[in-house]
Amino acid sequence: MTTLDTLLPADLQLRMRARADTWLVTGAAGFIGSNLVEALLGLGQDVVGLDNFATGHRRNLDEVERLVGPEAWSRFRFIEGDIREIADCRSACAGVRHVLHQAALGSVPRSIEDPLATHAANATGFINMLVAARDAGVASFTYAASSSTYGDEPSLPKIEDRIGRALSPYAATKLFDEIYAEVFARCYGFKSIGLRYFNVFGRRQDPEGAYAAVIPQWIATMIRGESVYINGDGETTRDFCHVANAVQANLLAALATDGQRDLVYNVAVGQRTSLNQLFEGLVRQLASENVRYAKAAIHREFRAGDVRHSLADITRAATRLGYAPTHTLLQGLGEAMPWYLKFISQQAAA
Ligand SMILES: NC(=O)c1ccc[n+]([C@@H]2O[C@H](COP(=O)([O-])OP(=O)(O)OC[C@H]3O[C@@H](n4cnc5c(N)ncnc54)[C@H](O)[C@@H]3O)[C@@H](O)[C@H]2O)c1
Repeated sequence: MTTLDTLLPADLQLRMRARADTWLVTGAAGFIGSNLVEALLGLGQDVVGLDNFATGHRRNLDEVERLVGPEAWSRFRFIEGDIREIADCRSACAGVRHVLHQAALGSVPRSIEDPLATHAANATGFINMLVAARDAGVASFTYAASSSTYGDEPSLPKIEDRIGRALSPYAATKLFDEIYAEVFARCYGFKSIGLRYFNVFGRRQDPEGAYAAVIPQWIATMIRGESVYINGDGETTRDFCHVANAVQANLLAALATDGQRDLVYNVAVGQRTSLNQLFEGLVRQLASENVRYAKAAIHREFRAGDVRHSLADITRAATRLGYAPTHTLLQGLGEAMPWYLKFISQQAAA
């Protein structure tokens, strides 16, 4: 399997290789975080990872170690720690030039069931990271924001400055983060960049558990030959974004000039896919890997807190950061599917 850095645009790889820095990735044992660690190590960078394994897994880091090899792995230092603890944030930020803050509790339903846990990680943990990074004098602070911030704003495509009311505690925490990031720029001159991810997917996104995201959950269900459930009529749409695009956006944000900071950017592809279309696409993708899935999807109730339609306008990221997604949904599924087939078969054998 190729490492993630090789999926990035060639000019970005060159820019990154021209200078070695120390990076902190929070949420390093999670899906997006471990892909960032993999790309950064592949690009010759020194990386500190912070995670408390709330939803991340040691196996993700083990896989990165295998993929990047011993020389690159020797440039990685892992801190098992908690962003809810300011002391952990401070020790993680010490000596770091770029912060890519990914640690949070994802999932809208989780936040509806346990808003305090979501708040502690996503809001308190966030301001802890801002304070620690500001005090450590880091050169850049890029954080995972979310398309959930658009809430009930009906217009499509979503433009960064036009948001609605938050529809879940998760969305409220992500909005809180954006507000605090802006306030830190105003009060302390500490500018950051928020990346509003739209349904990121790819290798190592956890297919298990009640709060799994739709793509890994459906792939695992289909490989096992079980029934797929679609919440609602299936005409809900999403702008699915492969993790290589999200990694690209993070690196561009970290390398951005001062004038490009203190802003949020949509990170997506700019293409809308319904859940029904996604289901059909997955059936076809699996067939191309010789896995036949013949069951019809079962429709059930809409899920509380879910946004009906989601489609990003990526003009701001494209014009200001030079962001150009390399992977459409289908290209991304083609990249991720062999990984899931291997992962599920290894699990079945264990
Ligand atoms: N995946 C998506 O589609 C998506 C969309 C929008 C926003 N985001 C945001 O992107 C970020 C990464 O998401 P992901 O999909 O990789 O999820 P993930 O659950 O795989 O990764 C999150 C990581 O953060 C860690 N973490 C949680 N609480 C922590 C704490 N208190 N201290 C230290 N580490 C902690 C978890 O253990 C996990 O490894 C999150 O901020 C999430 O809200 C993701």
